[in-house]
Amino acid sequence: MINNNVSYYNTDILNFDTSDEFDLIYLDPPYETNRTFTINSLDDDTGFDDKWDEKKYSEWIEKLITKLKDLLTNKGTLVFHISSEHSFVVESILIKHFKKIQKIYWKRCHGKNTVKNKMGEVIDVLFACWNGNNIFNLQHTPIEEDSVWAFKNKDKRGFYSLGALKHDRTRVGNVYKIEHDGVIYENKYGWKQKKEYVEKLIKEDRIHFVPDSKNMYVKIYKHEHKGVPLSNLWTDKHSITRTAKDPRLYPTQKPQKLLERIIKMYSNDDSLILDPVCGSGTTGFVADKLNRKCVLCDINKDTFNIIKKRFDDGIYNI
Ligand SMILES: C[S@@+](CC[C@H](N)C(=O)[O-])C[C@H]1O[C@@H](n2cnc3c(N)ncnc32)[C@H](O)[C@@H]1O
Repeated sequence: MINNNVSYYNTDILNFDTSDEFDLIYLDPPYETNRTFTINSLDDDTGFDDKWDEKKYSEWIEKLITKLKDLLTNKGTLVFHISSEHSFVVESILIKHFKKIQKIYWKRCHGKNTVKNKMGEVIDVLFACWNGNNIFNLQHTPIEEDSVWAFKNKDKRGFYSLGALKHDRTRVGNVYKIEHDGVIYENKYGWKQKKEYVEKLIKEDRIHFVPDSKNMYVKIYKHEHKGVPLSNLWTDKHSITRTAKDPRLYPTQKPQKLLERIIKMYSNDDSLILDPVCGSGTTGFVADKLNRKCVLCDINKDTFNIIKKRFDDGIYNI
């Protein structure tokens, strides 16, 4: 046990025996890069080997997915993380096992100046895979800086932008008139909202009137705006470098903020999460902070002390 929420097993995941079922399994396994990963310091060779004989990699992935799929609850999601340049084998296996797959494209780093014969590789793919009715909590990103200018109107509540109420000619809306301060507001093609609703908004001072054009708008307040619904292109979660905010303890360690988004989206407070190839334990570390229970496994025995240190240091960046 690492703490009340997180347990760790130093094991080959294919030998891991459990009666638990998981709402979320996140895995970031070796990618068949043909490299040995170390932390890249002269006096520290902590890391793992990613060298495979021909065909062995696809056989291993097949076994891994077959095993993990059976550990999902019926509302569970498996998120398989891999670089886009190594994703071909994995994709061909996942589509045999899952009815639903959504690919998420994560821009993990900036392009490098050293590329010559092909473009720089900067994208990881996260295959979100499920078979049942999975847990899905849509996340939002803050409104972009370049659309903040739209909130240029101000009243006693705060800054707001204008949401159209007038219907255009493509559909017939709700046809009625509103009288306000001696001006009649009406539109040939109707309004997008019912009259009772608009009257309620008027009482609450949430309608912006433009008497000259006889137009009404809904006030959209900046401080009430939930943000933009997340798409499957993620460019806002930066890969960790050696910063004090998310110190690098293990090669290929993933950013806490990336795991935060995945965990919030595909699990609930009472969910149990599994990271079968956990490395430095980012998944467990973030799950604990978000009050979820998590099981971690790794074949590399060094990972236990790394994870312990992580929890002892308690350096959160979410
Ligand atoms: C890319 S790293 C994971 C990094 C992790 N996401 C993090 O944030 O630190 C892959 C890990 O898979 C582990 N691994 C490789 N084969 C394994 C196996 N058969 N069972 C369990 N763990 C394995 C390696 O030891 C390595 O720590």
